[in-house]
Amino acid sequence: MKLAVFVSGSGTNLEAMLDFGIPVSLVLADRDCEALNIASTAGVATILLDRRHYSYSSGQKWLDEDRKEFTKAILGMLKRHEINLIAMAGFFSILHQEFFSHSRPHIINIHPALLPEYKGQFAVRDSLTASNKLTGSTIHIATEIVDDDRYIIAQTKVPILTNDTLETLWERIKTEERRIYPKILQSILSGDINLDAIVQRGNKSSFSDKISESL
Ligand code: GRF
Repeated sequence: MKLAVFVSGSGTNLEAMLDFGIPVSLVLADRDCEALNIASTAGVATILLDRRHYSYSSGQKWLDEDRKEFTKAILGMLKRHEINLIAMAGFFSILHQEFFSHSRPHIINIHPALLPEYKGQFAVRDSLTASNKLTGSTIHIATEIVDDDRYIIAQTKVPILTNDTLETLWERIKTEERRIYPKILQSILSGDINLDAIVQRGNKSSFSDKISESL
């Protein structure tokens, strides 16, 4: 399998993968970001497809056709680099559904909450303002449904402390993410985790419990 990591931000999950020895063939970003520097320093090929160049139909707002064009450009890059496994690690663009029908089930994402709780970009803030005392992170197969909770591969729990701020809580979540994401990718690459089987099973419970316990 040839792995590409999709990024938009600080890239600490990407760095953890590289430190762990995960063979990353390509890093693709939708904006200029620190993750690209991490990739370049490690000698990994990078592609920057600035999403702002794809918001031409309305000037500013992203319309469906912009999303489609952007997605088409990404699919072209992946084909050129013969990528067949994608790990999203803080990638902020929502791609067109064509992307998922094309690559499913070989797209993995990490979300900073215990799905199905707290979907969306404000997951950490939402978990902090809720009365819950527990949150965490979820690694799952990504589909056209944003933060889809049907195909969970692994989850890790993180307590919410009374004096937590957005920053302290998110950093503790990310510490856990950096611990589990490389291990899960290694298991996918070695064949110990079979993504097709997870989709066929279509039920998150028994499989994810087993994996989470062994992390
Ligand atoms: C992580 O918390 C991940 O769950 C979310 O974006 C963050 C990425 O952090 N999707 P980093 O760029 O890897 O530091």
